[in-house]
Amino acid sequence: MAVPVNFKSFFLFSLFLLLGFSLSSQTSQQEKEKPLSFIIRAKHDAKPSIFPTHKHWYQSTLQSLFSSDSSPENQVSGNPSLASSFSGTLIHTYSTVFHGFSAKITPSMAKKLEKMAGILSVIPDKARQLQTTRSPQFLGLKRKDTMGLLAESDFGSNLIIGVLDTGIWPERRSFSDRGLGPVPSSWKGECVEGRGFSASSCNRKLVGARYFSGGYEAMSGPMNETAEYRSPRDSDGHGTHTASIAAGRYVYPADMLGYAHGVAAGMAPKARLAAYKVCWTSGCFDSDILAAFDRAVLDGVNVISLSVGGGVVPFYLDSIAIGAFAAAQHNIFVSASAGNEGPAESTVTNVAPWITTVGAGTLDRNFPAEISLGNGVKFSGVSLYSGPHLSQKPEIPLVYAGNAPATGGDGYSSSLCMENSLDPEMVRGKIVLCDRGSNARVNKGIVVKEAGGVGMILANGAGDGEGLVADSHVLPAAAIGANAGDLVRSYVNSVKNPTATIRFQGTQLGVRPAPVVASFSARGPNPVAPEILKPDVIAPGVNILAAWTDDVGPAGVTSDRRKTEFNILSGTSMACPHVSGLAALLMGAHPDWTPSMIRSALMTTAYVRDNRGGPHMLDEATWNASSPLDYGAGHVDPNRAMVPGLVYDLTIQDHVDFLCSSNYSAKNIEIITRKPEKCSQKVTHAGNLNYPAISAVFERVPGRAKMSTHFIRTVTNVGDGPSVYKVTVKAPLGSVVSVEPGKLVFTKVKQRLSFVVRVEVRAVKLVAGGSRVSTGYVTWTDGKHVVNSPIVVTLQEPY
Ligand SMILES: *[C@@H]1O[C@H](CO)[C@@H](O)[C@H](O)[C@H]1NC(C)=O
Ligand SMILES: *[C@@H]1O[C@H](CO)[C@@H](O)[C@H](O)[C@H]1NC(C)=O
Ligand SMILES: *[C@@H]1O[C@H](CO)[C@@H](O)[C@H](O)[C@H]1NC(C)=O
Repeated sequence: MAVPVNFKSFFLFSLFLLLGFSLSSQTSQQEKEKPLSFIIRAKHDAKPSIFPTHKHWYQSTLQSLFSSDSSPENQVSGNPSLASSFSGTLIHTYSTVFHGFSAKITPSMAKKLEKMAGILSVIPDKARQLQTTRSPQFLGLKRKDTMGLLAESDFGSNLIIGVLDTGIWPERRSFSDRGLGPVPSSWKGECVEGRGFSASSCNRKLVGARYFSGGYEAMSGPMNETAEYRSPRDSDGHGTHTASIAAGRYVYPADMLGYAHGVAAGMAPKARLAAYKVCWTSGCFDSDILAAFDRAVLDGVNVISLSVGGGVVPFYLDSIAIGAFAAAQHNIFVSASAGNEGPAESTVTNVAPWITTVGAGTLDRNFPAEISLGNGVKFSGVSLYSGPHLSQKPEIPLVYAGNAPATGGDGYSSSLCMENSLDPEMVRGKIVLCDRGSNARVNKGIVVKEAGGVGMILANGAGDGEGLVADSHVLPAAAIGANAGDLVRSYVNSVKNPTATIRFQGTQLGVRPAPVVASFSARGPNPVAPEILKPDVIAPGVNILAAWTDDVGPAGVTSDRRKTEFNILSGTSMACPHVSGLAALLMGAHPDWTPSMIRSALMTTAYVRDNRGGPHMLDEATWNASSPLDYGAGHVDPNRAMVPGLVYDLTIQDHVDFLCSSNYSAKNIEIITRKPEKCSQKVTHAGNLNYPAISAVFERVPGRAKMSTHFIRTVTNVGDGPSVYKVTVKAPLGSVVSVEPGKLVFTKVKQRLSFVVRVEVRAVKLVAGGSRVSTGYVTWTDGKHVVNSPIVVTLQEPY
C-alpha cells in the first residue's frame, strides 16, 4: 500500500544527513557505475521519530544518497522533482522477517550507505535457481503405503502451506476446493489480481496468491508481459507442480501422455495453499524471496516450501536463511530443497539448522526404454517419449554427433548437440547419439529433430555416472548411463554402417531397489556449518507426476505446444514439497509441536534400507551403498513420523547459541535475529545444538594419537507416558562412541531427559589437506518406538 510521502520530513532528515557526511563531489567514473540491487539491513529502533513510518525513513535515506550524488542544481534536498530521480530505486521494504529495504543503487552508494548510522549491513542481491533437473519428464505417484492411513484423516485442513515458486495455475483439479470447510480464520493473506488472475482465481483450497517482481525487474529490466504474467499465474509450470505435490487434491484419472496412469494426490490433500510467486524467467531474486517471506509470515502461513536455491554463504548474508529464521520464530516450518549439484560432495545448499533440507530419492517406478544396436547388443535406458514409435528392428542408421566438426555452438564439442551444431546432411533420417551436458536434455532432442534426425540416444558422461532422468522428448529418444554410453560410442566407431532402434516400454512398477539416492541430489558435508549434518532427509524427487501449467508443454520449452494437465519432473525441487506437505499433516496431528519437533520426528523415524531389505540404500551415481552424507537421517516415513516416541526440540535461544558458538559476531547475529542477542552461559561448541543428528569434526593435531569431544542431547517424551528407552550405538569406523546414561526412564509425557555422547578417534595418517568421513548410528528404543540418529565423524588433515 502506498503511503503518501511527507516532503517536509524528507527535507529535514535529508538535510541532516547531508550535513552528516561530506558533500564531496562524486567522480564521473562513479556516476557511470551501473546500479545494482542491494538488500539493506537497518536497525529497526534507529528510525528518527521525525519519520512516521520506516518506509519514509528508507526513502529519505535513499534520497540523500541521490542528492549527494547528483549534479549541483539537484542538491537541494526536498525538491519534489528529486522524488522522481530516485523513484523506483526503493524495491521492497521489509518489516517482519527482516528489518530494512532493498534498493537499486550504485556500488559506491552502497559503500556509503553501509557507513551510515542505523544501517547494519548492505548485501548484494543475487539470483537463485529452481531446483528441478529441468528436462521435465516422469511420473511417480507416491506409494500408497506412505499415505493410506493419513489420507483418510482430516489432518492438515486447518493449515496453510505457503509455496514460494513460479506462481500457480489455479484451474487445475488438484486445486479444487470441493468438500473443504471455510478458509481458516487465522488467515490474513490476499488474492492479488493481475493479468490472467482475478480474485476468483482463489478459493477455499488456494486461499491466497501474491507476486514479487521488484527485485527481478530492477536487475533484469521490465518483464516481457507477453512471455510471463505480471500476476500470480504460472507461465513456467514449476510452481504449479510443487504446490500440487505438497497439497494437491485426489485426481483420478491422472497421467502424462499415457505415462504414470493412476491417482494423483499431494501429501496433504486437505491442507490449504498460498502461492507466492518469486521466480521469473531469469531466476528468483533474493530481494523478492525476502519480501515473500515477510508477507507469508504476516499472512499467517504454517509451512513454507521453497524449492529454490543456489550457492552457500554465511547465514547473515543468506536471505533464505534470514527469512527462514524469522519464520521459525513464528513457529512456521520451513523446508527447502538441498540442490541438484550432486553427486559431488559438499554441494548441499539451504543448510541453516532452522531449515529442513531435503534431498531426492527414486520411487519404485520407472519408465524404461530399450536400446538395441545392429550387432544385437541391448541397453536399458529411460524415456517419457510419447508418439509414433520407431521400427522395432535395429536397422535405423546411427550416427555420433561428436564425429563431426562443430558447425556452430561457440566452441562446444559437436557431441553435445547444441543449437545449430548439427549438419543436416549427416543426421537426416538417423538416430543421433548426443552427449549429456551444457544444454537442457530436451533441447538436444529439439536440435536433432530440427536437423532431420529421427531419434536420439542421450549418453551420460563419466561425471554424470549412471544416474538417469527420463524426459518428455519431442522425438523418440532415451537416456543411458555412462558405461552404456561408452559402449555405444565404440560401436559407432568400429563398424561401417552402425544401426540402432529404441523401444519404449511404458510405466514399470515395483522397481527394485528403491528408493535409491538420486544421482543429482546434493550431498554433505555441510559447507557452512560442518557440525550440522545436511541434508536432513530425502523424499521422492525422481519422475514425480504433478499438476502443470497450460502455458508450456511437458518438455518445458516454448516450442513444445502440447498441453497436459500433469507433468513428470525430477529434482530436489520435487522432494522438498513432499516434506512440506508431511509437515502440515504432522502439525495437524500434533498442534503443540514446534517446527524442530516435526523435523525431529521426520528424521529419527526415517529409514535407510531399500525395498530389498539390505542394510543401506544405494547411491544411483555409483550403485554403491550411500551414507548419511547422501541421505541425512534417511528417507522420510510418514506413518512412523506420526509416532516418533522421543523428539529433539530446539528453542530460538538454542539457535542463537549455535550462532554464538559458530563465532558469528554480535552484529552478524543481529542481522539474522533482528535484535541484539545474548549468548547463554552454556555455549560450548556448535555441534552441541540439540539436533537429531550428530556431526563430530576433528582437525588432526600432528603428534597427538587420540582426539575426543562430547555432545549433550536432550530428548522430549511425546510417546505414552511412563517408558524406558535403551540406547544402542553403531560407532563410525575408527572411533569409539559411548552414551551416558545408557537408559532413560520417563515417568510422564513431555518429560525431558538429557544424555552425553562421547566420541573418541585415533588419528590416522591422511593425505595433506585430505579428510576421512565415517558414519554410524545412536539409536534409542523402548521396544515400540525406534529413535535413530546418524553420527558422522570427520577427521581432517590440517592444510
Ligand atoms: C516477448 O515475448 C514474446 C513471446 O515469448 C516474444 O515473441 C517477444 O519477442 C518478446 N519481446 C521482447 C521485447 O523480447
Ligand atoms: C564402489 O564400491 C567398489 C567396491 O567396494 C569400490 O571399488 C569402488 O571404488 C566404489 N566406487 C565409488 C565411486 O565409490
Ligand atoms: C571461535 O573463536 C575462538 C576464539 O577465537 C576459537 O578458540 C574457536 O576455535 C573458534 N571456533 C570456531 C568454530 O571457529
